Amino acid sequence: MGKDVIVACDFAGKEQTLEFLSLFTDRKPFVKIGMELFYAEGPEIVREIKKRGHKIFLDLKLHDIPNTVKKSMAVLSRLDVDICNLHAAGTVRMMEAALEGLTREDGTRPLLIAVTQLTSTDQESMENDLLIHEPIDKVVMHYALNARNAGLDGVVCSPLEAEKVHSICGRDFLTVTPGVRFADGDIGDQKRVMTPAAAKEIGSDYIVVGRPITAADDPVAAYKRCCDEFIG
Ligand code: C5P
Repeated sequence: MGKDVIVACDFAGKEQTLEFLSLFTDRKPFVKIGMELFYAEGPEIVREIKKRGHKIFLDLKLHDIPNTVKKSMAVLSRLDVDICNLHAAGTVRMMEAALEGLTREDGTRPLLIAVTQLTSTDQESMENDLLIHEPIDKVVMHYALNARNAGLDGVVCSPLEAEKVHSICGRDFLTVTPGVRFADGDIGDQKRVMTPAAAKEIGSDYIVVGRPITAADDPVAAYKRCCDEFIG
């Protein structure tokens, strides 16, 4: 899979999501489905969106004992999603088990990427709540290396970390980056943002874009602008 724009469908329910997706009659965007929509609608929403011709990143961020994650990943693999993810904090053994579960009998599997430290976690909460005393960027890169060593395909990271992840984990290790905004757009609650063009420049493999597209007056035009800037 090459560079692509993934649209974060952060809607509360099926109706709103399908209404939004039906605007796209030409090119069908790669779609991210998160916990809110998945827990509200169940696996059927994944089947429905897949049936309409979209690729799917199922963003459920699994984190449990290796055996449970392995079995759950086998279920997601049968749903035929294209990318799924987990928390690198679950350990290398958990990530290896996840890959095993994800791999189908014919050897194919969805891409598997890891969340390192959530961007909502800062140095202070990491130290006070998690008792991790290393600098946060060192922790992020260590978790990314663990993911690569476990055989995963990449990480979710800030566009600002993408270059460093590639230099440490290799150019083929995927960086999937949210926090993207148009130069003339609202940044909302995102703190550190980058334009699609800048994300392309620093080597992001996939950008995850929500509100700049979902809340735009013309979502199809906003999606096209994003693709033009990022993919060219
Ligand atoms: O609307 P917006 O473009 O900010 O949406 C970005 C998407 O990426 C949301 O689904 C958000 O949950 C997700 N995300 C993020 N930052 C992270 C990880 C995921 O914004 N560090």
